[in-house]
Amino acid sequence: MDFAHLIPPKAPSSWLDMDALDYNIKRVNQKTQAVKLRLATKSIRSLDVLRYIKNNSPNFIGLMSYAADESVYLLENGFDNILCAYPTLDMTSVAATFKYTKQGATMIWMVDRPEQVEVLNTVAKAHDVIIEVCLDINMSMPLPTLYFGTKRSALMGIKDMKKLLKHVKKCSNIKVSAAMGYEAQIAGLPEHLPGKALLSPAIRLLKNRSQKQVSQRRRSIVEYLKKQGYMLKLVNGGGSGSMDFTSCQPEVTEITVGSAYYKPAYFDYMDSMDAFKPAAGFVLPVTRQPEKGVITCHGGGFIASGATGTDKAPVIHYPKHLSVLNDEGFGEVQTPMAIAKTKNSKDMPRLNIGDVVWCRHAKAGELCEHFNELICYRQSGQPTVTANKVEKQQTMITYRGEGKCFH
Ligand SMILES: Cc1ncc(COP(=O)(O)O)c(C=O)c1O
Repeated sequence: MDFAHLIPPKAPSSWLDMDALDYNIKRVNQKTQAVKLRLATKSIRSLDVLRYIKNNSPNFIGLMSYAADESVYLLENGFDNILCAYPTLDMTSVAATFKYTKQGATMIWMVDRPEQVEVLNTVAKAHDVIIEVCLDINMSMPLPTLYFGTKRSALMGIKDMKKLLKHVKKCSNIKVSAAMGYEAQIAGLPEHLPGKALLSPAIRLLKNRSQKQVSQRRRSIVEYLKKQGYMLKLVNGGGSGSMDFTSCQPEVTEITVGSAYYKPAYFDYMDSMDAFKPAAGFVLPVTRQPEKGVITCHGGGFIASGATGTDKAPVIHYPKHLSVLNDEGFGEVQTPMAIAKTKNSKDMPRLNIGDVVWCRHAKAGELCEHFNELICYRQSGQPTVTANKVEKQQTMITYRGEGKCFH
């Protein structure tokens, strides 16, 4: 995309390149056509964008939410098939979903421990309803000196599963209707992180080895559950970085995808995401010039979650001849940037006070926590999403713009 002629109506503000988004939607649809598609709302955080992707994805089945109060909000706004991916203790919000499940909506809660099942059963009994749960299978690969994966679920094998199911059987108002095995170490771990080039071959090797284990474990647990008579509505797996692998696993009925649509900077370091285009980011206004060769932008400190490191900082998208000062980084209210001296610097656009610098966040949906709306662009330079069959508008409102803040 050529940014030079685009004039954002205000800065700081966030942008959504609709051409890149359309391209990414098509690619996801191609890669996941063998299974149903569930959108990871944490990586989108905008009802407008969720609806846009839904309307352009023939295999769309529903949403993967990240919080109980968010699930209520999604149901209130017309979505009717929601899998909440992380166990919750917020029973007020769980109870608020019953109005919708009584009308036929599907709402499934994640569990991996008896305590989580217990609280769900108590609220279900109090309201005389049946709550559906999904068993979260831990897909990590523990090695003697390294835990390759994420520490979330306590359900690693059939033995753990049997113990939990024994408990679930005592809970009159709980129904096991789904299983999920999210292979985070394949779907969300980049192969080539900045400054860690030596690790790349090892990460590739581990990812490869882990694929075999993931296939075996998820398949055998799903088979076991079926043999025990559990009628599973869905078996969920995967994420943006594992579309090719997860979509061809026979036990998987649906894949979750979120980050691939915006393709944030962290996914630039992942082999499987090469074919996707950066679609979202933010612009910062140049407000100061402390010395020759340095400009200072207003704002910018939108650091991503996870283990801290340079890979969690935003990146400069345009113009390319700028670099962030190591001593200051992307700051709370200002971000100084050095202008590189290159042979053909005459060809580089000059930056004056009032110009803007285009940046990208390291993570996908977290961008939307900092802005009320995403300003939509097409290559023509016109801020528009008129090709969107949903409705004519120039912005997509974020959760934050709706006054919502879910954790
Ligand atoms: C349970 C679960 N499924 C799927 C995903 C994939 O999301 P994304 O496609 O945004 O990487 C995640 C991300 O963390 C997750 O926690």
